[in-house]
Amino acid sequence: MPTQANDLDAYWMPFTPNRRFKAEPRIVSRAKGMVYYTPEGREVLDATAGLWCVNAGHGRAEITRAIAAQTDELDYATNFNLGHPKAFEFASRLVNILPGDLNHVFFTNSGSESVETALKIALAYHRVRGKGTKTRLIGRERGYHGVNFGGISVGGIPKNRQYFGGLLTGVDHLPHTFDPVRNAFSRGQPAHGAELADELERIVALHDASNIAAVIVEPVAGSAGVLPPPVGYLQKLRAICDRHDILLIFDEVITGFGRLGAPFAADHFGVQPDIVTLAKGITNAAVPMGAVAVRSHVHQAFMDGADAAIELFHGYTYSGHPLACAAGLATLDIYRDEALFERAAAIAPHWEQALHGLRDAPHVVDIRNIGLMGAVELAQIPGKPGERGQAIFHRLFDDGLLVRVTGDIIALSPSLIVTEDEIDRIVAAIREGLGKIA
Ligand SMILES: Cc1ncc(COP(=O)(O)O)c(C=O)c1O
Repeated sequence: MPTQANDLDAYWMPFTPNRRFKAEPRIVSRAKGMVYYTPEGREVLDATAGLWCVNAGHGRAEITRAIAAQTDELDYATNFNLGHPKAFEFASRLVNILPGDLNHVFFTNSGSESVETALKIALAYHRVRGKGTKTRLIGRERGYHGVNFGGISVGGIPKNRQYFGGLLTGVDHLPHTFDPVRNAFSRGQPAHGAELADELERIVALHDASNIAAVIVEPVAGSAGVLPPPVGYLQKLRAICDRHDILLIFDEVITGFGRLGAPFAADHFGVQPDIVTLAKGITNAAVPMGAVAVRSHVHQAFMDGADAAIELFHGYTYSGHPLACAAGLATLDIYRDEALFERAAAIAPHWEQALHGLRDAPHVVDIRNIGLMGAVELAQIPGKPGERGQAIFHRLFDDGLLVRVTGDIIALSPSLIVTEDEIDRIVAAIREGLGKIA
């Protein structure tokens, strides 16, 4: 049946209550800096950097120009057995800002693909070293690693898993680190919970290290509601992985590119992962792209031990897409020239102070923050989880503020260009909105 060009029904929207949305749509058609504009020209302040991704703010002309120029020069080239200059240049530029010897980069198109790629590299890494029994993967409760089968298998968000039948077998989960009894209203890293990393030793004792390939965690759990790691927790995970020849994968899809006021969370916490997954801020979201960075010893194992000419049987049609590489290079220039990671670090104390000022606002039961990430957790309406979250989301959008809501948690992650005045406006709008909802 023919549809109208503007028929809302044709589009099955992702992670959206479609029936409710179509009844009450929220549309933006333009964006610049920190602001979205509706088709009617109403301003909506973006407190989520798109979806944790527009780290340098919306509508950056330098990136747009780089994409346009690249389209004219080389629109597409496969990266299978053929190269183009910008892919090599971009990989080199990334390696230069990645911590330690994360010296090799594999390109994907999204965070989800980066996760699948990282898990496959981890499995194949042990195999090319003659340790093919090391196949188990360890994730964490409340972890979010995208939506593909590997990612939801190691991930720990129940709704993202329960409808999709048999997930990967051979997966265990560490406990999450959220502890509202001991850590409510923590500023930065919570003091309590490092011992939760010892659960990894318990899993190792159960399965034996000879069967375990990798541990994957978000350094700061993002999508499940901004859960900074307890002090010392990531260091413990690193030490246990070292002890048992287990790869440590940091999923930095959200925390990469300055979100914590350092280039990567690995820098911020001073913990060196073996593999890092990236996406989102890698191109300031102007072109979809993801990447996986691996340390030298991981890459070298393939170069030395692979039993076929192709060392890794993996890749995407759009791996290293020229437009994405051009966008990524222009994005890295902006991060460097405007010192945006340093800027995020400098403004983070104001962010923390302002956010925790909401402690006495209606419905608030916890506030968490680190870098330019924050969460304001609301009390659930008894028997109606997520209702209050939806109410505040709609209220704030109508009042001109876009936030992200997970259940009853307001998650916040403004672009790194946010000003103190904009932070104050975000916080004031939330306080006012909370006063208006039931
Ligand atoms: C930590 C983490 N990993 C993976 C993903 C998936 O990325 P994408 O939506 O680009 O597939 C996300 C998305 O929010 C994420 O936060």
